[in-house]
Parts: sequence; C-alpha cells; structure tokens
Amino acid sequence: MTAPIDTARLLHLRRGGTSVVLRLDDTALPCVLHWGTDLGDNPVDDLLPAVTNPLGDSDVYVQRFVSILPQHSHGWLGQPGLLGSRAGSSWSVDYTSVSHTHQEAGTLEWPDGPAGAVRLVSEGIDAVGGLAVTTEIELHAAGLVRVRASVRNEGAPGYEVRTLEPALPVPATADELLDMTGRHTRERTPQRREFGHGRWARESWGGRPGHDSATVLCAGARGFGFRSGRVWGVHLAWSGNGVVAAEQTSSGWRLLRGGEILLPHEVVLGTGDSYSSPWLVASWGEGLDPFEERIHRFLRARPQHPSTPRPVILNTWEAVYFDHDIPRLLDLADRAADLGVERFVLDDGWFRGRRNDHAGLGDWFVDETVWPDGLGPLSTRVHNLGMQFGLWFEPEMVNLDSDLARSHPEWLFGTEHGPGIPSRQQHVLDLANPEAFAYIFGRVSSLVAEYGIDYIKWDHNRPLVDAGHQADGIAGVHNHTHEVYRLIDELKNAHPALEIESCCGGGGRIDLGIIDRTDRVWVSDCIDAHERQRMQRYTSLLLPPELQGTHVGSEVDHTTHRVLDLDYRAGTAIWGHFGIEWDLAIADDTDLARLREWIDLYKELRGMLHTGTVVHADPTNPAVWVEGVVAEDGADSLFRVAMLDHTLTWPPGRTTLPGLDPERRYRVSVQAPTSRALGDRPVPGWVADGVVLTGRALGEVGLATPLLDVDTLILVRATAID
Ligand code: DGJ
Repeated sequence: MTAPIDTARLLHLRRGGTSVVLRLDDTALPCVLHWGTDLGDNPVDDLLPAVTNPLGDSDVYVQRFVSILPQHSHGWLGQPGLLGSRAGSSWSVDYTSVSHTHQEAGTLEWPDGPAGAVRLVSEGIDAVGGLAVTTEIELHAAGLVRVRASVRNEGAPGYEVRTLEPALPVPATADELLDMTGRHTRERTPQRREFGHGRWARESWGGRPGHDSATVLCAGARGFGFRSGRVWGVHLAWSGNGVVAAEQTSSGWRLLRGGEILLPHEVVLGTGDSYSSPWLVASWGEGLDPFEERIHRFLRARPQHPSTPRPVILNTWEAVYFDHDIPRLLDLADRAADLGVERFVLDDGWFRGRRNDHAGLGDWFVDETVWPDGLGPLSTRVHNLGMQFGLWFEPEMVNLDSDLARSHPEWLFGTEHGPGIPSRQQHVLDLANPEAFAYIFGRVSSLVAEYGIDYIKWDHNRPLVDAGHQADGIAGVHNHTHEVYRLIDELKNAHPALEIESCCGGGGRIDLGIIDRTDRVWVSDCIDAHERQRMQRYTSLLLPPELQGTHVGSEVDHTTHRVLDLDYRAGTAIWGHFGIEWDLAIADDTDLARLREWIDLYKELRGMLHTGTVVHADPTNPAVWVEGVVAEDGADSLFRVAMLDHTLTWPPGRTTLPGLDPERRYRVSVQAPTSRALGDRPVPGWVADGVVLTGRALGEVGLATPLLDVDTLILVRATAID
C-alpha cells in the first residue's frame, strides 16, 4: 500500500553553522525534520519524501511526524506537549487550522529581535476546544535554537494548564545522555547513561533548579567528549519548578524536551488569558566545546551582558562569618584595597537580630546594636578606598524569629497545615502578596540608595515546599518565580548601575531565566580548588567564565578541610569572575605577595578570559585536566594544566592545547607565577627553553606534561607570532 502524499511544505532556517528544517502543515504545529549541521544553499525540499516513513498516521502506534508540541490526539503515546482541561473537557487538543509566519529580526514583524536571528511563529486554533496555541522557534546568529509555546483560552473561563512542554527530536546516533546532579557544596557533577526507551526526566520541585539541577541535558554519539562526538542538548531557562527530559518511544522518536512543572491550579486561564512556557534553549556541536560555545556567544550578544571589566571581589563570608566587628571589617577593607581589590562585599549578618542563622531574615534594617552609625562608616571607607560596595540580602526569606514574621505572619507561604517545615530555620515570603512585595522592594531599594550599594549578593537558602498563597490556599511557586523576576527587574530599573549576583546556598539557582536579569552566579559554597575544577568545568557548559563567581579561599578549605597551595587556589579562581574569600589579617606576607601577583595577572588577562572561546582537551591521562581560553582573534590564549589525581602513568604523558588557529605559529611558555608548581624536578624542553609550534601541532601532537604533584597546576600561554 502506498502512503498518502504529504502536501506539507518545508522551511529551511540557517544561522551560525546550524540548519533547522521544519515541516509546515495547515492543520499541525511545526515538526523539526533536522536540527544541527548546516545543510548548505541547495534546496532541501526533497527531504520531506526522503525522510517520511512508509506507514501512515492512521495507525496510532506509528507517528510519521511529531510536532514541536507532541500531540496525543495524533497518536503520540509519550508525554503530551500540551495537557490541560476545562473542568475535565477540552483536554484533547486538535487543530482546525494552523498558520505559520517566518520572521527576521529587525524587520517590521520582529523589530526588537536580536541581530541576525530568524524565527518561525505558528498559531494553531482548536476551535472546538476553544484554545489558541502558539509556538515560537528561534534560530540565533550563534546557531543556538530557542523554543517556547503559549496557550490562550478562547473559550469559557477555567482552562487549567497542567503541562506545556515543547520537544526537539534528535537522531538515532544520539544514544548516550549526559546531565548533571549534585548537592550543596558539590554542584554540577556529571552523570551519563544510555538513551533507552522511556523517559529520563530531571525534575525540580523546590521552586528553583536546585543544587542537583540537570543544568543541561545532552544526547550524543556514544562516548562524546569535549572535542569529538556530535551532541545535542537542552536547558530550561526558568528559575522555578521545571523538568528537562529525554524521551524515546518504540516508534523510534528521540526527543529532548522541557517545561515548567505546574502544581494543581497554579495556572487556570480566564477567557482571553494565556500562559507561556519558559524558553527551552537548545544547542549542538561536534563535541561539548562547540555546544557550549554557541550558548556563550548567544549570552555575550545580549544587551545586558556585563561589559565592564569584572572587578576583583573581596567577600567577607569565609573571612568573618557573623562576626561583624566594625574595626575588623574596616581593616579588612584597607587590606583588600591595598592588594588591588575593586569590590568589597559585606555578607550575611548586618541586619537586625542576625547574630547567627536562627533569626532576623526579613528585618532589612541595619542592626543598630552592631552598627550604631549604620553601614555608612564601612560603605564610605570602601568607596573612599576606590572600591565598589556590595551587600548581602536574602529577599525571599523570613525567620519566624523576626519582627516581620511576628507582625505579618500572613505574608509567609503556607497551606492548610501552616507554614510547613523550616529549612535553615527559615521560611519563604509570598512575593505575590502585594504588601510583602512592596515592603521588600522598599527596604532593598532605600538601602541601595542610602549606602550607594553597587552590588547585591542575592541569596536563597531553602527550597520552596508547602508554598501556598495563604489567602486562597492555592500553590504559588509559579507566581513567586515571576514575582522574583519582577522584583529584580524593578530594582534594576530603579538603580540602573546596580549589579546582582544569583546565589542560592551556592549554585542552586543557575539558569538562563535568572541570568537574564543578574550579572553572575555563585558557583558553589565550596571553594576548594580541587572541587572547583569540576564544578566550574561543568558550569561552563551553560555559562561563560565572566558569569561564574570564583573565589580564592584560605589554605585549609572550610568545606572539605583540604589543604591546598595558594597557586592552585588562585590558578583555579582566575578562570571566572575572580574574588577572595579569606581573612587577609591572618594571611602571611608571602601569601599576600603571591595573592597580589594573582590579582595583577587576573587584571591583565580578564579581557581575554571574558571574551574568548572556552576549550577543553579530552583527557589522554584522566588525572590531568586541560582547559583554556583562546582569544576571539586567535592571537593569544591561556591554558590550565591541572593534576587532579595521583597519575597512573609516570611521566604523565602528553598534553594537547586545543582550539588554536591550526595555521598560525605560537610561542608557548609557562605563565608566571605558576612555574613554582614545577619545584626542582626535571622539566620538559619546552618549559626550559620555550617552543614555537603551529596551532595544529599543539592541538594534535601536544606537549610533554610537566611532572606535577597532585592538586597543583601550571598555566600555559600560547601567543601567536604571525
Ligand atoms: C549561603 C551562601 O552561599 C554563602 O556564600 C553565604 O552568603 C551564606 N549563605 C550566608 O548565610
């Protein structure tokens, strides 16, 4: 029997080395036929008959095409793309008509689109169900894809949205999955598994992505690495409850997908109301390096991307904790400025009743018992020393032992069972309560104005559970997430120069929703350089170095109690937005002199480190980790060669330097001050005398790895000479 002729048409989008080929139909939402390698100029119309399977849609077990919102009524037997109902009806969606519009950024149809981007906007009407469903598929100049769906209730009021989860197909060569997990102080630990039949879903139910967040969910050719193996992956740009999933059915479709997890009755649409899913951000590459490069390039092209040199920070947390002694803090500020620090951040402990983490959250007034003259003496000293002044807040949180909780218990989230269990002795403020929102905005904004606060470290130290609006008992995580965004946006509108760090007990809220309105994230509360090597490497799959907060801690790490040399600590921290979190009063003169060298080096190199391409060498020796940044024009580069483990082979073999221009010649040398790590052991000839080699030779053949101890590193500079 012959399959019915498909009358649909194709649309071929091409940007940044990526092609997206879409099948457009008058009664179906778009279906992605290809997403990945650029297919070139020649027409691809024959792809449709070429890839259409011989079985018809009449058999529910076989889907010829799966749309961007997989449709149950068309026989999709996995998770439906849209699931909802109007008190039990209209739960099965089918489109009487679908219209498609192809738009280019900067034209009348999409005037504010980012330069070079193109998109397809499709609207499906379910006239019977009273629904209008819109999908947007964007292809950006960097070759990055973003997908979002919206549903509008055009029928009677009361359409409840349960799931709106767009999906992108990947080919059958993608048979291995990679995502991340972790916990507080050990975020972004990679895990791999086979892409089998069924659904591998990474869910966040705590009102934030969480320390165990998948961050990205990738599917690639078995064994894919940083430099080889084609890989596709998705990220959900959302800071509340959400899911990313890999799903394979027995009809062979492999999908990467994601959306918000909605609690009961969180989204119930009145007539004319609509709900939009968060953006699902999708990238691909020949290995993870080009995958992440697309994301970094996309982020760096945003108008709000930090464009000033990322200032050296001193954060007081691991230096003084809650010991807010004014002479001690003034002395710390003096010492910081003397070393070349550019931003001084006063962490937790400055507000009323906050002598430890049992009380005070919510009372955002300077504690007069500790700071009788307010924060002015410190903020003025900091500013007079030429540094910016930063202050810690945790705006969404409340201790029951606070004036706020005592006077407005109704502002807290809760259910019929009350405010629920505490976590770190704290509960969550319901920012959808207009009075609570106004109070927090007022307090933060007036403190910013009063003390000329340049930077807020915005913390969030517990998950949301039992997060119901007290007024009606309905779950409020969805609303809260939007209100957090609105609060940050309004603060930034009121104080345009204000920068904000997204901290969440370390790295519990790292996503492209929060990063759209903040200026960096705190990668982890663990600043042990050994652990940070891995955490920063895998955070880089989403965020470029300038958005990652990376600090030098004290010699004995406060989390792991590992004892690590300063050059290893600083040589790890230099790969992000560099800072110090160490009581400088107890650092000896040798340490301070070395720290000064590192600060100077960071200042010299940050221009390149924060604009260049991040690269990783796939390990030839699992104990040796190599990564680097290559300047945009390929003329300069810095690599880190770190010994993470006790190497099995001795000597440790060769190290390749990937990502350099293959045709250019580079002078290669060990970057001062890291030659100290070489001790008095014999060194390879290239270390002793320097070498000049092509980028191709450095990437393919490499260099003899110096004899390094465990938990030491060297930096290698490769500078083009032609
Ligand atoms: C958790 C953060 O991640 C730390 O850096 C610090 O700010 C503490 N909270 C303060 O309570």
